[in-house]
Amino acid sequence: MVTSSDLRTEDQIQTMYNEHCRSLIEYWRGDPIMHGGYFADSEPDASYTTAARHASALLAREAMIDDDSRVLDIGCGFGHFLMFIAERFDCVGEGLDLSEEHIEFASARARGNPRLTFRQGSATELPYAQGSFTHVTSQDAFYHIPNKAALYREIYRVLAPGGTLAFLDFLQPSKAAPDQDRENTYAALGWTESYSLLEYQQMLQSVGLEIDLARDLGSHVKQTYHLLGKDTQRYAVTAPDPDEQRQLMDFARVCDDVKKGVDRREISWGVIVAHKPTSAGEM
Ligand SMILES: C[S@@+](CC[C@H](N)C(=O)[O-])C[C@H]1O[C@@H](n2cnc3c(N)ncnc32)[C@H](O)[C@@H]1O
Repeated sequence: MVTSSDLRTEDQIQTMYNEHCRSLIEYWRGDPIMHGGYFADSEPDASYTTAARHASALLAREAMIDDDSRVLDIGCGFGHFLMFIAERFDCVGEGLDLSEEHIEFASARARGNPRLTFRQGSATELPYAQGSFTHVTSQDAFYHIPNKAALYREIYRVLAPGGTLAFLDFLQPSKAAPDQDRENTYAALGWTESYSLLEYQQMLQSVGLEIDLARDLGSHVKQTYHLLGKDTQRYAVTAPDPDEQRQLMDFARVCDDVKKGVDRREISWGVIVAHKPTSAGEM
């Protein structure tokens, strides 16, 4: 339900998420999740919330997070992933996000768990010492980040030798010249620049990471936008404020555009896991 006509810089993304923070919390009735759901072939009728938890479970499994992990979640939003893994493991978790409003919410939610910390900051200037984490994770945040070269350099720096990067994100399998409607969809999503699965791997390898897994999950995410679009339309009717109603209807349209983009194979979603070689010296 977060839309804007043009989202290209970190400042614009930060403002947009801060501005929509309260309405997101209200819409999600206090438990906001902002990433794609994984709809398994055997469970096509799952609810969005169930599928979102499946996505987090997939990420935690592929990252091989355990009790000894020190995890940095980049673009942590309201802290969904760290809360999810903290229910399963006694690991240390640090969440970083541009939006101070999201960080405030996540910190309040995690109060009582001294192993979870949340901090406001940019993924392109990580406020951590080199080699601080065994894992860096992210769900649906990298597509927002304009300076991806800085992002990957920073991830490499803060990972301990042998450490793992694992993320889920939008992919752009085809770079067919977008017509105006498609441009608007990308702008509304805050999609600064995205890569195909192959381009992602090349970029990560160029900073010294070694690829363990790269899988396209586009067919498993599409239902997310079908369900969110329908739900947002229903919710829009009850919104008392005409501005909010308009924003919600805009978001429902974006959901429809994303579904069509997946069908045209222009938009996809995938999981990538890579590691910093054990032999790597610190940068
Ligand atoms: C679609 S939301 C996903 C949030 C969360 N990972 C989740 O799955 O619920 C994208 C998040 O990335 C954050 N973000 C975008 N650009 C960022 C950057 N350069 N540095 C840190 N966080 C960023 C946004 O503030 C937002 O909370």
